[in-house]
This record gives sequence, C-alpha cells and structure tokens, in this order.
Amino acid sequence: MSKILFISSEAFPLSKTGGLGDVAGSLPNALLKQQQDVRLVIPAYRGTLEKLKQYTRIAQTRYYGLDVSIMESRLPGTKLSIWLVSCPSLFDRQGGPYNDEYGNGWKDNALRFAVFCHAAVDLAMDTFKNGWQPELIHCNDWQTGLVPALLSLRKNAPPSVFTIHNLAYQGIFDQQTFSDLHLPQELWHIDGVEFYDQFSFIKGGLSYATKINTVSPTYAKEICTSEHGYGLDGLLTHRQQDLSGIINGIDTKHWNPGTDEYLIEKYNARSLNKKSVNKTVLQEELGLDIDAQIPLIGMVSRLVEQKGLEIILQSLPELNKLALQIVILGTGDTHFEIQLAEWASEHPSMIKVIIGYDEALAHRIEAACDIYMMPSRFEPCGLNQLYSLRYGSLPVVTAVGGLVDTVRDAEYDKSHDIINMNGFIMPSHDATGLISTIKRALSNYAEKKSWRQLQKNAMSDDHSWLNSAEQYIKLYQSALQK
Ligand code: ADP
Ligand code: GLC
Repeated sequence: MSKILFISSEAFPLSKTGGLGDVAGSLPNALLKQQQDVRLVIPAYRGTLEKLKQYTRIAQTRYYGLDVSIMESRLPGTKLSIWLVSCPSLFDRQGGPYNDEYGNGWKDNALRFAVFCHAAVDLAMDTFKNGWQPELIHCNDWQTGLVPALLSLRKNAPPSVFTIHNLAYQGIFDQQTFSDLHLPQELWHIDGVEFYDQFSFIKGGLSYATKINTVSPTYAKEICTSEHGYGLDGLLTHRQQDLSGIINGIDTKHWNPGTDEYLIEKYNARSLNKKSVNKTVLQEELGLDIDAQIPLIGMVSRLVEQKGLEIILQSLPELNKLALQIVILGTGDTHFEIQLAEWASEHPSMIKVIIGYDEALAHRIEAACDIYMMPSRFEPCGLNQLYSLRYGSLPVVTAVGGLVDTVRDAEYDKSHDIINMNGFIMPSHDATGLISTIKRALSNYAEKKSWRQLQKNAMSDDHSWLNSAEQYIKLYQSALQK
C-alpha cells in the first residue's frame, strides 16, 4: 500500500470540462479500492464547495499575498478523501475552470495554477502538519506541471508521476510571467521550464517528474513524433525510458445503460431491443422525425479542431444525401458552433445541434444513437468511444491514439473477424474517409443480425478501471524504486 497524492485541475462530479474530469473523478477511487491510500487535491471553483455535503478547513496560508484555505472532504458517492484549494479571488468566479463565459482563457491562469501548485507542494511536503505525507505524487496535465519542478528543489521530496492527457495544451506564458511569479531561477533553462524563451508549465512535469505516462499506448508513441509532439517530441524521445501509455478506464457505475438514471428506457446486452426507445424519445424531444429504424449518428464533444470538426463540416453535404439523422451536443470554438448551427437550421430533418454542456443529455445521446462519430485528428485516449461501446452505439473513429487501441474493425485489420469487431476505423483522416466509413457502418446496420452481434461485442468489452489501476500501481512502484 502506498500513500499517493493525486493532483488534478478538475474531478467529476465536482468539476469537469472533459475527460480529465472523468479520469480524476474515477481513477483515485479505483486505486483506493485496490488498497492504495490515495488523496485527491483539486481547486475549489465556484459551485465546487456547494456540491459537498460538508467540509472542514484544515489549513490557511497565503501565496502571492492571496488568502488560501485548504478544505477537506470526500468525493461524493465515494470514500475518497479530497483536499480543495480555496482561493476565492482566483477560483470563485462565473465561468469555467480555464476560460471565462465567452470561452477566452482567464488572463491570470499562470497565477491561478501557480497558487494551486504551491498548495499541492505544501500538501506533498506535509507543511500544514496534517500527519499524512504522500510517498508518491501523481500530477495530471499542465495545470499541475510546476509541482514536480518545485519538488525537485526540495530535500526528501516524494517521487512523481506526470500523466499527459493532452499534449496540445501546455500552459505557455512569457518569461515576465515566470519572473512575476518569483519562481526559482534554477528552473529557468532548456532542461527545465524554458521552452523557446517562453515559460512552459507542462515542461515542469515532463522535465522533472520521475515517470511520465500518457493515456494510451499508441499516443505514447505518437507524441515522440514531430506530427504529434508539439515541439516536445525531442524531450519525450529523450525520456522514452520513463514514458509509458496506460489506457483510461471508465466509471462503469455512472456509465451503465442498465442502471443509467438519465435514460427513459434502460437496457443491457440481453435486452438490446429496448435501446431504440431512447432513440425515439430523443427524436421527439429534439423535433426530428420519429423513426426507430433510421440510423442515428451521435456526438458529444468539445467543438475544437482536435475532434475533427473540419472533417465533419466538409462531410455534411454528402451525408445529407443518405437516410440518416445526426445529433451533436457540444461547446467550443465559436466558428465551429456557428457553422454547425447554421447547417442544422438549414437541414432540420437531418441534424440537430445543441450548443451547451449537458451531462444528462450526453448520456441520453449515447443511449439513443446507433453510431457514434469521433473523427479526431488526434486522441490521447478518448472516453466517448468507450461510453459508446458500453451503450452498444458503434463508434466510427480515426486510426489514432486511444481510438485505435480500443476500436477493432474487421475490414481494417483482416485478422479480426466479426466475432471480435466492435466498430469502424476510417482509412484516412479526411472527409472521404469519414463518408466512406459511415456508409460502411450504414450497410452493416442494415444487416440486423450481424449488427446485434457487433453491439454485443462492443458491450462485452471490459473498460472498467480494474486493469488500468493495476498498471498505475506498477508505474508507481517503478517510480518509487527509481
Ligand atoms: P476530451 O477530454 O478531449 O474532451 P474525452 O472523450 O476524453 O475527450 O472526454 C470528454 C468527456 O466530456 C466525456 O465524458 C463527454 O461526455 C464529456 N463532454 C464533452 N462535451 C460535453 C457536453 N457538451 N456536454 C456534456 N458532456 C460533455
Ligand atoms: C484529454 C484527451 C482525451 C482523454 C482525456 C482523459 O482531454 O483529449 O483523449 O481521454 O484527456 O485522459
């Protein structure tokens, strides 16, 4: 049993903008169930403390002249102990964890996450004398990158694991910001946090963490190439001995079509005929033609370039010629939101676009759709294809990252036959690839018996955390031994 401090900028159900929230809200608890002594630390954003039944203040301090309290509580629905870093002037505001209400990054993000990292370092070193000092620190994404960097300067600091959930977000600021934050000058060099004369939070993790991992084996290889490395492929290749890939698990209680409280009609692999009730209910709700037979394609996503929005927009005219319906739920870049909404208003019987963030609707779309579309340009792991598999909604995906590690396509890899197949992989990263793959999925959908078999294959895949949590424990052990 090891004492592990898990540090994340979001954790479901207290805060979430994407998959990191899902992982931080479920992996620590899975580790706890495997007898690890884990604690989670997250920022107290507006609304976070209100979601907790009770919490107590265990420490008070100041960083950069700002009042900071550490609150202790439990993650709702679990026995997991959590610490919340409360700094009202930085975190208690209208808007999201990283962006304001209009989608613009907060101007003081460097200060916000520097404060979060200082607090995490103090918790890691047991500065507040809580009587619990972790043996290992698990950091996630750029917002936590300063933790391994600052710990590298401390005596008797625990080793650290740094997980890359998405290399495209690096937390880059100018050198003046580094100076303004009074960070130790020893960190400012090319093997430290300096990145082409800029200040990089993520390099704090990549340069100083004892071990680095990412969220799928394929993405672990991809980030060592110039195509996916965002300028960090050299550093990552240099650290290849310490770099690994562990596929994400999912919260199989929260994402279970048999018990999902958001669904009108619950179902499982033995009662798949009930699934289409979810489709007709959604069609009615959204004003689409009510038709249990017509194939429904779903998508729930951040509407950003990563997710292949360009490819989707280019494919819509061709897809419009086919008998199908599309439902997309998401928020993100304004130009994608506008283009999708415009297309939807001109083609109301083909596609519905809901701009917004809606956890309940996300579950209902996963259950309602027949095919789930995820033509990502890159995908470190991806959770929506995993939720789709579990809901018997077959994914159409690009051959990248965690998508290619979790989706098996018969025609893509001839060694797999239909017994093993669970989805469709696009042969190319473009509109032609998406259109041809959706057409292929549609012709499979027309064969009811074999479609059922594919759905059953998908639903019997095991993506619970059990396996991956064990791999994390091994990774922790290797960091402790280093
Ligand atoms: P990423 O982390 O890159 O956004 P993932 O597939 O790993 O992608 O995880 C996305 C998570 O965020 C999923 O749980 C998905 O359902 C959720 N999500 C994304 N957009 C929305 C939205 N608009 N409404 C509700 N949930 C959303
Ligand atoms: C990131 C990635 C996504 C991954 C998630 C959780 O946001 O874009 O692929 O599933 O983190 O690890």
